[in-house]
Amino acid sequence: MSQVRPPAPRVLVHPDKQSVADAGGARLLLTLIDTLSLRDTAQVALTGGSLGSDILAAAGRSPLVDLVDWSRVHLWWGDERFLPDGDPERNETQNRQALLDRLPLAPDQIHAVPGPDRAETPEASAAAYEAALRAHGGGLFDVVMLGMGSDGHVASLFPQHPAQRLTDTIVVAVHDSPKPPPDRVSLTFEGLSRARHVWFLVAGADKAPAVCRALAPGADRWDVPAAGVKGLDATLWLLDVEAASELSP
Ligand code: 6PG
Repeated sequence: MSQVRPPAPRVLVHPDKQSVADAGGARLLLTLIDTLSLRDTAQVALTGGSLGSDILAAAGRSPLVDLVDWSRVHLWWGDERFLPDGDPERNETQNRQALLDRLPLAPDQIHAVPGPDRAETPEASAAAYEAALRAHGGGLFDVVMLGMGSDGHVASLFPQHPAQRLTDTIVVAVHDSPKPPPDRVSLTFEGLSRARHVWFLVAGADKAPAVCRALAPGADRWDVPAAGVKGLDATLWLLDVEAASELSP
């Protein structure tokens, strides 16, 4: 029997970074409304980085935010910096400030990755996070949102970093991250690809070469991790003009 391949990635180009955030915010709210009309709950993996919070802030300004039944939404993270609760560098803290703290969400709907105040090591945190995901239907996400670094990293999977090699779990502890802080917890390729929709949200000229390499046919995820994540139903690249500037028309 032949294996069903995920559809090819599609690229949407917006005029500037703010438009990417606005489009991502609108798309998130519409997808939640749509998903909740078909299923009991919606499972979303949020992202850190600058656009991760800009998108949530944009969603918060939209009138659609009040049309989402937030009591049925579960929020996760594609990766987290191994820092204590409330640390301003945690993706969770930044996302909370951007929107989450203003939404009617119960604590058990926000699935934060444990930091050093709740787990002794990144490995213990990764194991606890994997157990939480498996308890929620094995970690099948409706949406996984991802930023991308100029080196092509996604979540905390970095080019040629040994953490990439782990394929038998859905969460991995990452040490010696080239982007600070050095200790992190990340979904693996396997974990990130358990998603109906994967959205890459990328802006800025410094990202243009990596966008090009990630979308090139035959791109190797060992060198360009962004090439290794595909959604089961759709993979969308939401880019600004600068990030798209090295793609052929
Ligand atoms: C993190 C990330 C990381 C981020 C990219 C893009 O915690 O640092 O989740 O993968 O999304 O580095 O970040 P920017 O959008 O800020 O460039």
